[in-house]
Amino acid sequence: MSFFEENLPLMDRYLEAHASAEPELLRLLRRETYQKTTQPHMISGYQQGRFLSLISKIKRPKSILEIGTFTGYATLCLGEGLDPKGMIITLDVNEDLAYLPKSYFERSALSDQIDFRIQNALEYLDECDQTFDLVFIDADKENYVTYFKKIKERLNPGGLLIFDNVLWYGKVLESEPKLKSTKVIQELNELIARDESFENLILPLRDGIHLAVKL
Ligand SMILES: C[S@@+](CC[C@H](N)C(=O)[O-])C[C@H]1O[C@@H](n2cnc3c(N)ncnc32)[C@H](O)[C@@H]1O
Repeated sequence: MSFFEENLPLMDRYLEAHASAEPELLRLLRRETYQKTTQPHMISGYQQGRFLSLISKIKRPKSILEIGTFTGYATLCLGEGLDPKGMIITLDVNEDLAYLPKSYFERSALSDQIDFRIQNALEYLDECDQTFDLVFIDADKENYVTYFKKIKERLNPGGLLIFDNVLWYGKVLESEPKLKSTKVIQELNELIARDESFENLILPLRDGIHLAVKL
């Protein structure tokens, strides 16, 4: 094990101590997510959340689409950079958990700008004719390639596409992947890298974030 790996928890604390603080509402949401959900690790969390917030503040999007709301943590982070007249549409299929993001959206300054829908993202994309400045995809890995193909046309020029978990806990390096999700994520990373209508980079932050700007 390398010096870096051995000191990972220490390093996480160091990184947190030397970056902007997490807003109080997000700290409470993170805590409640760990108390009340069975898979709390799905939350974007502090570091990735601050990254999404910064990216959104640089981009100042008027329209954001998020696939995979979960408890709404990333929605609120992305919302920090939203244009004052902008909207975020965020989609999830889990009706049972909807009370949690809803209550935090209502308590946030973005309550009028978040359109939270319980809807399957594939179904939504087949019906929607809207275009977006920023799209964050963080659900349903086996359909990542399908999402890329459908969203490509819905992204405005200069628009930013962000896929989460694109290193798939290191499984993207497997030469004979067993899981369908690994194969799909490998295909997605290839597809974006070869697509001349995008400029892209995979950031090794957390489980890997694929950033692609539409030219
Ligand atoms: C990893 S979590 C999202 C985490 C969230 N973006 C965050 O950063 O805190 C994935 C979520 O996607 C939802 N999901 C799974 N399949 C979906 C689909 N086809 N359409 C919309 N949401 C879906 C799940 O219910 C789950 O809440």
